[in-house]
Formats: sequence, C-alpha cells, structure tokens
Amino acid sequence: MTNPLQQAEDANAELLTQRRDRWYPQVHIAARAGWINDPNGLCHFGDRYHVFFQHNPAGVVWGPMHWGHVWSRDLVHWNRAPIALAPSLPEDQDGVFSGSAVVTDDGTLAVLYTGHRVATTAGHDMVEQCQMLATSTDGMTFTKHGVVIESRGRADFRDPKVWRQDQQWHMVVAMSSPQRRGQVWHYSSDDLMHWDEGHLLFEDPDPNVYMVECPDLFRLGDKWVLLYGPMTTARPHGHVGRNGHNCGYVVGDWNGTQFTPLTDFTPMDWGHNFYAPQTMLAPDGRRLLLGWMGSFAHPLACQEDGWCGQLTVPRELRLDDDLRLHSSPIAEFSQLGRPGKDLGPITVEPGQPLTLHRGSNPVEVCLGIDLAASRAEQIGLRIHDNGSGRRTWVGYDDLSERVFVDLSTVSETSGGYRSARLTRPNNDSRDAATRTADELCLRVIIDRGSVEVFADDGRIVLSSFSFPVDSERSVALDTVSGCATLTSVRTRPLAPHWNEPDRG
Ligand code: FRU
Repeated sequence: MTNPLQQAEDANAELLTQRRDRWYPQVHIAARAGWINDPNGLCHFGDRYHVFFQHNPAGVVWGPMHWGHVWSRDLVHWNRAPIALAPSLPEDQDGVFSGSAVVTDDGTLAVLYTGHRVATTAGHDMVEQCQMLATSTDGMTFTKHGVVIESRGRADFRDPKVWRQDQQWHMVVAMSSPQRRGQVWHYSSDDLMHWDEGHLLFEDPDPNVYMVECPDLFRLGDKWVLLYGPMTTARPHGHVGRNGHNCGYVVGDWNGTQFTPLTDFTPMDWGHNFYAPQTMLAPDGRRLLLGWMGSFAHPLACQEDGWCGQLTVPRELRLDDDLRLHSSPIAEFSQLGRPGKDLGPITVEPGQPLTLHRGSNPVEVCLGIDLAASRAEQIGLRIHDNGSGRRTWVGYDDLSERVFVDLSTVSETSGGYRSARLTRPNNDSRDAATRTADELCLRVIIDRGSVEVFADDGRIVLSSFSFPVDSERSVALDTVSGCATLTSVRTRPLAPHWNEPDRG
C-alpha cells in the first residue's frame, strides 16, 4: 500500500496535467496544482526560508488538508519541495490543519499543528481538534510525535503559533468558548512535548465573534501585536464582514502571561482576498508576514484551471507611533525583474489613458500622485481592460479620499469594490497649504490573477484576486473627471520567481 505522502504526490501530479496558466501566479507562491489556504510553519532553517501551506493536493476546493512546501535562500527565488505532511494518524485523519515551526537548540525543526478529526458517535459527527508535534532534521521529511495538547472537548481549538522567549516555548492557539466567544489561549512548555494547562489570553470583545482563527502574537518595538481572524455572525458593515473572512490586529502590552490591549481591532488588509496571515522573525530581526489570498466563495476563475489560491508577496511589518501596522513588500522583492520605464512627471487627461504595460506577465507600477495639482475625481490603473466592459480598476478616489480596488465588473470573484481611507495628520483641519505638499504614492504589484496595492507607506494595503479578461491584457494609467498630475510613473516588469520549471 502506498503511503499517504506518495498518494498525495500522485494525485497532485494527475491534477497538474490539467493546469492552465491564464491566471497562474508568476511572483506569488501557489501550489503546483490544487488548492491552498493558510501559510504555515514560516521559518528560517538550514540557511533556507521555508514556507509551508494548507494544501489539498487532489482538488481545487478545500479538502483533506496536507502541508505543501516551498523554500528559498533569498525570499525572492522559490523552489518546490515534496508535500511535507499528510493525514496519517487517527488524530489528524481528516486534516493536518494550520500551525507553525520553530528551530530547537539542537538544530531540529519542530512543527506544531492542529490534528483535525471528525468522529462519528451515536450517528452524530463530532469534530475533535488537538495540537500535535512533528520534527525534521533536514527540513524536508518529518517524523510525527502525536498529540501534545489534547482536544478540549470543543470543536474549534486550532492553529498553534509557537515562539521561544525567556528560555521557554510559548504558544497562542484559538478556541471557541462554551459560550461561543472567540478566544486566544496561551500555553507554555520547556520541551515542546509537555505543555502547561493553558490560560485565556484574549477574548474578542465583540459578542458576535464566535471563533478566531490563526492567532499570532509578536513583538514590534516595545509593543506586542495580536493578529487574528475573527469569525462573526454580524451582518457586513463597513469593511468588517464584507469578505467571507477578515483579519486584523490589536496592539498591546504582554508581560509573559497577560496581554493588555491598547487599541481596538483594526483590519490588516482592505482588499477582497486576504486572510490567515502568519509572521516569522527573520535572522536579521525583521518581522516578515505572508497571508493567504483566497476565498471560499466559489466558483473562482482559477478553479477551472486546476489550481486555486496563492500567498501574498512576503511583507515586512513595522508599527508607527499611532500603533498602526505598516506592511511593505520586503526590500528583496525589488531584485525581481528589471527597472522599466519612468514616465513622470506627467499629466493625464480624461479619455486619454496611457498604456504602461502589455501582456499577461507580472509588473509592478509605482505612481506618485500630486494631490494638490490633480483635479481628477479618480486616478488609477485600468488593469486588463480590453474594451469588453470587464476590468480591474485600482486607484485613489479624491471625493472619498480612499484608495480602492474595484472589481465590480469582474463577476467570478466576490465582486464589488474595497477601499481604505487615507487618513493624514490634521486631516480634519487640513487647509490648502497642507494639501499642496501632499503626494500619494501607490505601489501596485500586478500578477496574472491578482493585485496588491500598497499606499501611505504601507499603512494601507489591499490584496485582491483579479481575473478580468484572459486575452489582450494591458495596464493603463487613467483618470476620471479631471486631469491627473503625476510626479513619477515607474514600471518594473517582474520575472517569474520559480527557480525551476514546475511541470517536470
Ligand atoms: C483558516 C483555517 C484554520 C484551519 C485551516 C484549515 O483559514 O480555517 O483555522 O487550521 O484553515 O485548512
């Protein structure tokens, strides 16, 4: 009988024969074929960065979860590795769910993950989730050591994020309380095998939040950031609840046992498709993050093509004095591709769009928008507009003072537009003189099937799928109702980030 890992590889190879690349990412991590969701086990081990991810190797929808695996030496060029973990024990028989990785003092890579099992008792399905340990000496093949924190008798108990601090291992893990409140629990251990009883670290104050997913607690400067994905029964309002999944953060103090929030919950990303991010500490001290760009709202255009879901580009996080999180593509990302054109300074008139890029290959565009000189109501990039009426429209709306991604003509995705307000110091009392100084920089990473928009020094980020048209693609600078004045317009055609052909 073939082992579960080999079975998964065989199923994935079969699916790969059906893969089409109309939307397949060139500068984002995705499965060779099949479905992915959350990034897992981000770490630096053996001179390599490792990224694992939730993966259904045999289908384009969520299914039995495995851990897919890619690695890189420089966070820019990526290599595929065999599937790392498959369901194989009674406790993880229905899924090797999300988790994290740490390197022990003796140089072993240890991953803590959630074992997911649906037990049928007296005709009823009961979900059991427990925390499990697996280790590896080469970063490629893993030995499972079974359960280290038992199921709590409740369905939702998952997503351990582990780190080392003060000679101890610490874990945050998500739980739904008996009263159906979304909670984060903290556990500690000396050896990763034996964990204490655990205690409640944080409960989302919103009673509509019945569970939180993928908690991550980490230090930035002298504060601590608690990232998580609240699952809510509330109707969509504003940004929160508009996507199937939302995630954000609370900043606070942490003394090793207690977390004291200092801020309210703030969304982390304002786009259509961002969820379940995980962070890691790079050897040089940077806090890096990757998120899942995906959706459970089906169908998605890429599902016709044998794959579904991708990760964001790696981002670096920092916290500002107002305790707002900023995320920017890591500096290394600029090594990908070659500098293209700089067309600025330039003025664009309505009805006269300026084509910046042709074809489906990825490109990065940086716009410096002179807000004082521009008269336009909207300024932005018309992505893959071939006149069919379908296009992704990304830019800045001067009436609402918001950065937006408008997918309202692209029906395969969750649709609609998403936006984030550009708040500036003294925004309310701003007079013409302050405004004259204003320049808005928009950095847009356009891959075959996605856009990521970074504005206001990374305080605003929108990550969205973008599947408008699969022919005659182009990216054009455009303006609505008035001229747009740009101080700079830079393009950077991006080269694929895979080191080897992936259809071997
Ligand atoms: C978040 C999540 C996690 C879980 C995993 C299962 O997207 O639901 O809570 O561990 O995905 O794939």
